[in-house]
Amino acid sequence: MSRSLRRELLGWLVLPLTAVVSYNVWNSYSDARETADLLTDRTLISSARSIAENIHESDGVIQAPIPPSALEMFATDDRDHVIYRVNGPRGELVAGYPDTLPPPETPTNFRHIYFKGSYRGEAVRAVALAQPVVSATGKSGEALVIVGQTLRSHDRLVNNLWLRALRDEMLLVAVAGILALLGLRRGLTPLLRLRDEVRQRGPDTLEPLDTTDVQTELRPLVTALNEALAQVQRQVAAQRRFVANAAHQLRTPLALLKAQVGVGLRAPDAPAARESLTAAGATVEGMTRLSNQLLSLARAEQGSALLHREKVDFNALCRDAVEDLAIMAVERGIDLGFDGAPAPLQVNGHPTLLREMATNLVENALRYTPKGGTVTARVRAAGGSTVTLRVEDDGPGIPADEREKVFERFYRRLGTGIEGTGLGLAVVKEIVSSHEGEIELADNAPPPGLLVKVTLPALEA
Ligand SMILES: Nc1ncnc2c1ncn2[C@@H]1O[C@H](COP(=O)(O)OP(=O)(O)OP(=O)(O)O)[C@@H](O)[C@H]1O
Ligand SMILES: [Mg+2]
Repeated sequence: MSRSLRRELLGWLVLPLTAVVSYNVWNSYSDARETADLLTDRTLISSARSIAENIHESDGVIQAPIPPSALEMFATDDRDHVIYRVNGPRGELVAGYPDTLPPPETPTNFRHIYFKGSYRGEAVRAVALAQPVVSATGKSGEALVIVGQTLRSHDRLVNNLWLRALRDEMLLVAVAGILALLGLRRGLTPLLRLRDEVRQRGPDTLEPLDTTDVQTELRPLVTALNEALAQVQRQVAAQRRFVANAAHQLRTPLALLKAQVGVGLRAPDAPAARESLTAAGATVEGMTRLSNQLLSLARAEQGSALLHREKVDFNALCRDAVEDLAIMAVERGIDLGFDGAPAPLQVNGHPTLLREMATNLVENALRYTPKGGTVTARVRAAGGSTVTLRVEDDGPGIPADEREKVFERFYRRLGTGIEGTGLGLAVVKEIVSSHEGEIELADNAPPPGLLVKVTLPALEA
């Protein structure tokens, strides 16, 4: 079941409230009982006392005329039965009905006890009171007065008292629930408005959402959404720029190629045609390089999400990349060296992309370093948790203020006089970050020259 704010809030509010209310209702029920018991007992004892006051002896016989007031005090609408009995000192029946409501024990000495009994199958609450009687002959004894009452008015009182409490408490729960729902609906309105606003947007709208009227609690959400939108906007802009640049970069050499072929076709003799063909060949080579770099970039961009990663020996991988470039180094008259780690260094990565990264860096060093220079690639384990590749050359280097820019797509430094697409370092950066690594550019020590340092997370052995 999906989570609903409404259900959760109601659950948190109504369930505990119901528990509290149940406790209250149970409490008020026992309070009501106590109150009703107390009232009934008071009536019983005053009735018993007023009967007892009238007990006297005349002519040697105990008399107990029942004063009407003693029974009238029970008069209620509930037609309760009142049962009474008076026994003389020797147990003889003086008034009332014989054998009714025997008390659990017989009180003495003015004392009284309350007890429960039954009369014709109906529950009765009763009191038994001991009343001393002094006869004219001086002999004294105690009479026993018992008064009982059925419980109809008692029960009605209990019900009246606690049902009222129950009703009040239920009302409280209902009102709290309704208020919570209303409050929630009011509180959710801005969120729903926000939803509608998002829904109504066109697919290209990346404007930030309006944060006025949004409650403090929701503002972080909207702000976060806006930040995400801004990031998407930046990415979309970068993407557009890239596509435009790429189109331009592809169109220019194609136009050049067309011109070169045209010149070749119109060439008066074989050597002139050959010259055009050679130029066209160079253009095709440049375009091939451009397409390859664009493909690498696309592949690296899918990066962490789609590419299958595996355990790779980074040390061997870099050595292979350097070996492959040995011919280029010889052609350019550069001393290319590889200084590897003594043991395999495992990383979790995509071998083709990592190889491409190493190749791009070493190739840059070979291409931008003048003839007679030295290029060295070093692979090391750094502190157990990372591995590093350092590519050092003694070429012209890159000034500090351009070290950020060279990672941008199609950015090329002016005046190097060397052909390139300006995508190499962008590809490298993409590959490094899709492997959760870092890259930095620094001055080679000792200068001149560039030091490129790539750090990647090592795979635990
Ligand atoms: N080792 C280096 N020494 C000096 N400058 C460098 C070095 N590596 C790169 N650069 C400068 O950085 C710029 C960007 O390099 P990047 O590799 O991204 O593109 P590129 O080499 O021009 O083209 P590509 O590699 O795609 O063919 C280069 O134009 C170059 O000026
Ligand atoms: Mg390059």
